[in-house]
Formats: sequence, structure tokens, C-alpha cells
Amino acid sequence: MPGVFQLSVDELVKEAAAARADGVPGVLLFGLPDLKDGGGSGAADPEGPVQSAVRALKKDVPGLLVVTDVCLCEYTSHGHCGVLDGEEILNDATVDELARAALSHAAAGADVVAPSDMMDGRVGRIREVLDEGGYANVAIMSYAAKYCSAFYGPFREAADSAPAFGDRRSHQMDPANVEEAIREVALDLDEGADIVMIKPAVPYLDVIARVKQEFGVPVAAYHVSGEYAMLKAAARNGWIDEPRAMLETLTSIRRAGAEIIITYYAREAARALAGKGRGPS
Ligand code: PBG
Ligand code: ZN
Repeated sequence: MPGVFQLSVDELVKEAAAARADGVPGVLLFGLPDLKDGGGSGAADPEGPVQSAVRALKKDVPGLLVVTDVCLCEYTSHGHCGVLDGEEILNDATVDELARAALSHAAAGADVVAPSDMMDGRVGRIREVLDEGGYANVAIMSYAAKYCSAFYGPFREAADSAPAFGDRRSHQMDPANVEEAIREVALDLDEGADIVMIKPAVPYLDVIARVKQEFGVPVAAYHVSGEYAMLKAAARNGWIDEPRAMLETLTSIRRAGAEIIITYYAREAARALAGKGRGPS
């Protein structure tokens, strides 16, 4: 992914401080552990990359909102988002692991945890475990409507998390279905989600708009790796004016109703909006 790198904790602190200075309000962290195993047990390791990064950011970058991705796919040797029995994901066993991971992020100081797995019942279980652990103030941003999308390709390569066999159709949503998104959002809100996310963003602007209109809750949209990579590729070929195309794209997501946008363009967009410095490269 152009301009996107895996970072050590030290490098991350520098990058995040620079992003904060550019005007970026928060970061969403994904971890790449040294070792992966069948059960994804590294996800809840207090010394894991995400937990260490959260502690460092909370100490060294004041005012930065720290959000953590909660899923098992970066930690499992098979790349699936859950604990498997044969080739099937075990929903409830996965939910227990996710709750342990979320609790470890909260204990490290995360402001918001963001479960991205799409297992049933995980928001409720995470809320329960956080409350019991004394982290009632840690918010949950749920990936409520996560479509089974071709646009995650560059991320899976960067995070080394492509499924070793099969796909994510058993738990990610059918792109043709909008009613399911509404039901998933309602369930997640009922279980205690504070912010609901729609992902990807631009191919699903109608879903963002409907969720905003029907529920009126804080809505986030994830402008994913493939959406970013397409703009970068076109810009590098000299086919589009990148700063304009970037801001027009992000504006469309905002216009649809998302008040939080997760994007690999964050620093470039913040600089462009502040009218300063180097635009996109
Ligand atoms: C999975 C996860 C994915 C992304 C973030 N977390 C996608 C997937 O493989 O299903 C994709 C983000 C992106 O493409 O930028 N937990
Ligand atoms: Zn996953």
C-alpha cells in the first residue's frame, strides 16, 4: 500500500505525534504479532504490539484518541477471524477470545475498542467484560455493517491476514443486502455499541445515509485499503488530481452522514483541510 507501513512502537509514537500535529484527532491500531497460532491467543497478550502501542501513545501523545481493532485474524495462523473447528468458525469460543482481547486493550489505556470480526453477540459480551473490569468509560465502536468486499485486498496483504482457505462469507455481509445492515446495526446498538461503523465507505454511501437517518447515533465509515489504493494508483498514473479527488471522496462520506471517517488519507486530508504543507504524494 503506497505510503502505508508497518511500524514498531517507537516509530508509531513519532508517526502518531506528527499526525496529531497535522490535526488528526485519533488513530485505529492493528497489531502484527511475532507468532501466530491456531487459536489467535496472542490477541489478548498484555505485552502484544497493540497493548504496548496503546501504553506508549497514552504516555507520549496527549490528546490523541486511541482506538484498537479487536479481531483474531492478525493473530491466527490460518488468517480467519475466529477460533476454528475444522473449517468452521466457532462463534461463542471466538466471542470469549475477543472479549479477552478487548479487556487487555482497555487495561492498556485504549479509549475505544472496535470489534471488526462480525461474530454474533460480541458487542454485548465485550460491554459486559469491560464493565466488570472497571472500564465502563471505554467506548465500543462496532463494525456493525461489514460487507464481504474485494476492497480489503491491500490490507490483507499488508497485515498478512488473508484467510489460508475459504473466505469470510459466513460472517461478512452480502453487498446486495441493505436490510441486513439495518438489522446488524440495531442488534449492536441494543448490545451497547456507542458508535456504529459501515465498511467499506464509498460503495456503501446509501447504507451510511440510511443508518444515520434511521438511528441518529454516531456513525463511522471506514474508507478501506482498496478504496485508497485505487485513488493512489490513478494519481500516480497522472489520471486524476489527487488532492481534489481525495477531498471530494471524503466529503461524500461526510455528506452521507458519517461523522467519523477512518482513512489512510488522514494525515494528507488533515493537512489539506488546514491549507498547509505537502498535499498527497
Ligand atoms: C478484519 C479486517 C479487515 C480490515 C480491517 N480488519 C478486512 C478483512 O480482511 O476482512 C480491512 C481494512 C482495509 O481494507 O483497509 N478484521
Ligand atoms: Zn478479522
